[in-house]
Amino acid sequence: MDEISRTGAQPFVIGFFEHMNPNGITGDTWRQPANTGSDYLDLEYWMRLAKRLDEANADFLFFADSYGNPAVDGVMPDDSIRLANHIPVADPFAVIPAIFAVTEHLPVVVTSSTIFEEPYANARRYATLDHISKGRIGWNVVTSAAAKSAADLFGRELVAHDDRYDRADDYLEVSYRLFEGSWEHDAVVKDRATATYADPAQVHAIDYTGPYFRSKGVFSVEPSPQRMPFVFQAGSSGRGRRFAATHAECVFLQATSPEKDAEAVADIRRLATEQGRDGDAIRIIVGITVIIGVTEQDARQKYDEFCSFHSEEIAAAQFSHYSGINLLELDPDLPIPPGNDELSRSNVQRFDGYTVREVLNELKTRGVRGIIAVGTAAEVADHMEDYAAATGVDGFLMETYTNPGTYDEILDLLLPELRTRGRAPLPYTTKTLRERFQGAGHPFLDDSHPGAQHRVGPK
Ligand SMILES: Cc1cc2nc3c(=O)[nH]c(=O)nc-3n(C[C@H](O)[C@H](O)[C@H](O)COP(=O)(O)O)c2cc1C
Repeated sequence: MDEISRTGAQPFVIGFFEHMNPNGITGDTWRQPANTGSDYLDLEYWMRLAKRLDEANADFLFFADSYGNPAVDGVMPDDSIRLANHIPVADPFAVIPAIFAVTEHLPVVVTSSTIFEEPYANARRYATLDHISKGRIGWNVVTSAAAKSAADLFGRELVAHDDRYDRADDYLEVSYRLFEGSWEHDAVVKDRATATYADPAQVHAIDYTGPYFRSKGVFSVEPSPQRMPFVFQAGSSGRGRRFAATHAECVFLQATSPEKDAEAVADIRRLATEQGRDGDAIRIIVGITVIIGVTEQDARQKYDEFCSFHSEEIAAAQFSHYSGINLLELDPDLPIPPGNDELSRSNVQRFDGYTVREVLNELKTRGVRGIIAVGTAAEVADHMEDYAAATGVDGFLMETYTNPGTYDEILDLLLPELRTRGRAPLPYTTKTLRERFQGAGHPFLDDSHPGAQHRVGPK
């Protein structure tokens, strides 16, 4: 990338990617001697980590989640089990209250699927988390990667790719009514003198019938600080982008190349503006794995070690997760077969024109990670600034691979470097996650957001 001017800096949005399993996003890094990742079932593990992120002013901690298991031709590979690649995985919702209890400001974003969760139960869960955190919860809305193996586990049919997004549109329509359209914001008065906990005149039954979902009645949770939780979304296919442009307040973009990412960022913003939203207000961030050394050589050594934690079998299982194809049965020098993108379109189309060997090599090291930046803290910070300037992204999702290793590198080396450039997250000044993104005094969906029109009561 060309040198760019690094003036007029805005702080980057900096979130941290986690997955409730021993490895995080890819590889089998749990076996790195100093990595504590396999303590993921210890509540203290998450509380300690969250406290560090709270002290570092992180914009959020993100829990990815999926019901889908790794499978090749419908069978879980022994290597996935042996190396703990995406199996086992526990339920991140269970640890979130403990994180909120020990942190003062840190927001938590957690994935929930529009295919496998019921809208009403889902809304109740997020509204409760929004209450107990005083507005610090975010929802990563997914139509589910690895939807086939998840459908098998649930005993359901696989829903086709674009239908999954149509269903997700409807899911959000009913969710907006539950979060925004049932209780007026000041309905709860808690007046002992008149024995009035809530004013019935300010509580309304919703009556929604959509193509996929129906809901009728009063939402059971009283209005929470943000109402609709702050909405994240990660679909990068054409249909996924349209969905993001309609509903998302922050988009996780699947990083490909600076040129393609710049096009995707512009496209999402344009699509949102066409729908009457402020496209520039949508935050768009990419995943990044940083491997930082005190010297460049030190960083290179760490990178070699990082690469040693990724096997060909794991890479093949990962691709099968997204495509249903078993690459190990194919001629390594031939291009991957076209199509097969019903499960996770952008994770397959990203490899258009690649040979089988090239896909395996790329997945062995990078997997579904975004950018990989290797070097000293200054070099990595340069890379981030260049990437943001070339693409228009607002920030980065740190895809760590060891704890405390990568966290030490980011918190102790990278953030101080970003701070000197005006790029590190600023101290918290607001309470809710949405205000962290949209500014103080804006805890609710922006008026131009489609969910806002369902808000009842005085505007
Ligand atoms: C940073 C990031 C985080 C993601 N987190 C999840 C997740 O938690 N659960 C999930 O099922 N999919 C997750 N995905 C995958 C997306 O939901 C989606 O399946 C993928 O981007 C393909 O979307 P597409 O079919 O529109 O191309 C994530 C993707 C990215 C880039």
